[in-house]
Amino acid sequence: MPGSRDNSNKRGAQPGNRANGQPGNRANGQPGTGPCGAAYSQAMTPEAEALVRSATAHAPVPFVPEVTLLTAPEPFGLWDRTERDAPPFWAFPWAGGQGLARYVLDHPETVAGHAVLDIASGSGLLAIAAAKAGARSVIAGDIDEHALAAIALNATANSTPQVTARPVDLSATWDGGCPGDAAGGPAASAAARRTPDVVLAADVFYQRELAAMALGFLKAARRAGATVLAADPGRAFVPATELVPVISYEIPVLAVLEDASEKTVTVYRLPLPEPAPVLARHLWRCHPPAFSVTGVADGSCQALIVIQSYSPT
Ligand SMILES: C[S@@+](CC[C@H](N)C(=O)[O-])C[C@H]1O[C@@H](n2cnc3c(N)ncnc32)[C@H](O)[C@@H]1O
Repeated sequence: MPGSRDNSNKRGAQPGNRANGQPGNRANGQPGTGPCGAAYSQAMTPEAEALVRSATAHAPVPFVPEVTLLTAPEPFGLWDRTERDAPPFWAFPWAGGQGLARYVLDHPETVAGHAVLDIASGSGLLAIAAAKAGARSVIAGDIDEHALAAIALNATANSTPQVTARPVDLSATWDGGCPGDAAGGPAASAAARRTPDVVLAADVFYQRELAAMALGFLKAARRAGATVLAADPGRAFVPATELVPVISYEIPVLAVLEDASEKTVTVYRLPLPEPAPVLARHLWRCHPPAFSVTGVADGSCQALIVIQSYSPT
């Protein structure tokens, strides 16, 4: 998988990109105003769209043949053309995206009739699959403007007008999600924001900082009431202990991306946090303080029981 644009050799790089870890390098770059930007139709750059069109061709997705994507033959020449730190993730169907898209299409009840957010959408594969499975509306969020162009083009090519490409930043503060309505307007007011019913995230655990941000974002969505599904092909920073495995698939991948022809992808659900534990603490107030292991040595003591609860983050 292509990774950080290191100074020597892109092919040897680890998955990830410099943009992921740097709050200043965002399409939406507005910490504190929520994760979502304007719908791509309001933020479209003709240059990004032209680059996507010129570098890719429509191809069916190997594990999800119901969807075709604008796909590049290889990443490296295109990466040079984009002049970005981040690899052109949007030009390929990643293993995680293929797995979760397959799951959603085979289990349409997970999204049918719901408002869905596909975060770190890349090509839009998963968002398109959710729309084909019957989602009422789908926000396909990413921080890469080429991804937003690719998502918009791919959604049109797959006849899924329910999909809206929108700058959405995993590192921004969760404040209730994005407007689920494609006609939501350029400035998503706080009132217009609503928690999506379902949040999907595929292949976002390939870099430490990104994985931590993604987990925080997904937990916030879960706490706010959304169903959260994630898929991962065994990347280095998958928080497996926090997730409940649902199903695994063997998925064909491009050897030029993964150094393998197949990957095992696990679909996970994020459980609700454990009920807040209640800690009972006995405090003895004594006048004067007098305490022994067998009890209170002084008859003037009062026993207080302090109940504390906390919410795990
Ligand atoms: C490996 S690709 C996965 C794409 C897609 N989910 C799939 O499985 O095919 C990772 C995606 O995460 C996006 N990304 C990276 N950092 C992000 C952030 N802070 N907020 C939102 N998306 C981000 C990248 O632009 C890229 O499209």
